[in-house]
Amino acid sequence: MRTKRVTIHDEDRVFVLTGAGVSAESGLATFRGSDGLWEGERIEDVASPRGWQHDPERVWRFYSLRRKAAAEAEPNPAHNSLAKLESKLGNRFFLCTQNVDDLHERAGSRNLVHMHGELFQSCCERCERAPYVDTKLFESKAEHDFCNCGGRIRPNIVWFGEVPFHMERIFEELHRCTVMLVIGTSGVVQPAASFVHWANERYSTGGAPVRTYYIGPEHPANAAAFTKVFEGPAGEVLPHLFDVR
Ligand code: OAD
Repeated sequence: MRTKRVTIHDEDRVFVLTGAGVSAESGLATFRGSDGLWEGERIEDVASPRGWQHDPERVWRFYSLRRKAAAEAEPNPAHNSLAKLESKLGNRFFLCTQNVDDLHERAGSRNLVHMHGELFQSCCERCERAPYVDTKLFESKAEHDFCNCGGRIRPNIVWFGEVPFHMERIFEELHRCTVMLVIGTSGVVQPAASFVHWANERYSTGGAPVRTYYIGPEHPANAAAFTKVFEGPAGEVLPHLFDVR
């Protein structure tokens, strides 16, 4: 019989990885594909340290537009279902998102990390000053903020060529999960694209293989690595997916 649901038992620990697709039904553009964010922009221009050095005005304009879109968006049933699952599982649930929007938090998720940074945070390009909450929009260079050290304030986003945040915690959770849910990500950006392979390489603490599931309307590049792919928009699939025992 084909499984239609993901059963979560008392002893299970769930690791969730989300990508841009989980926020698509909230009206936020994904990166790849037609109408994607990278259609109008070259990645290296707006999401790399070199792009920032070359044209900070262009970079801030790009992230200001994204701040505006995220502030106007609302969590969708996919975000809500994950928050509900967390409320049932407590600390047996861990969410790692590649997204920089705050829709998971606004849906009620708490045990989560943003491996690619947070849209509503800024930091100094130069010194160790801690990232801080920042909702400002920067349309022109004249409006840019500077740190006390003289460095320019930049978005607290992980750009290509930079090291993702929270990797130690992510490894710890990858090492102890028994169920992995990957939602709305094309499976091409590393290291997140390899999480399913790392999970497959180990057995759960119960000695069983880790069960790995993908949820999204199309198969990701790493689809073959999953125990099962649930095809469909996350906001339609997730509300009916879990059977928590
Ligand atoms: P992509 O734009 O590469 O992929 C989005 C995925 O979401 C695709 O596989 C779509 O099929 C899927 N999708 C679309 N609508 C969906 C829906 N309603 N429900 C579920 N899935 C849906 O975005 P990511 O894989 O998240 O990094 O991109 C990974 C990273 O690449 C981003 O975090 C960003 C980008 O460059 C940085 O900026 C550092």
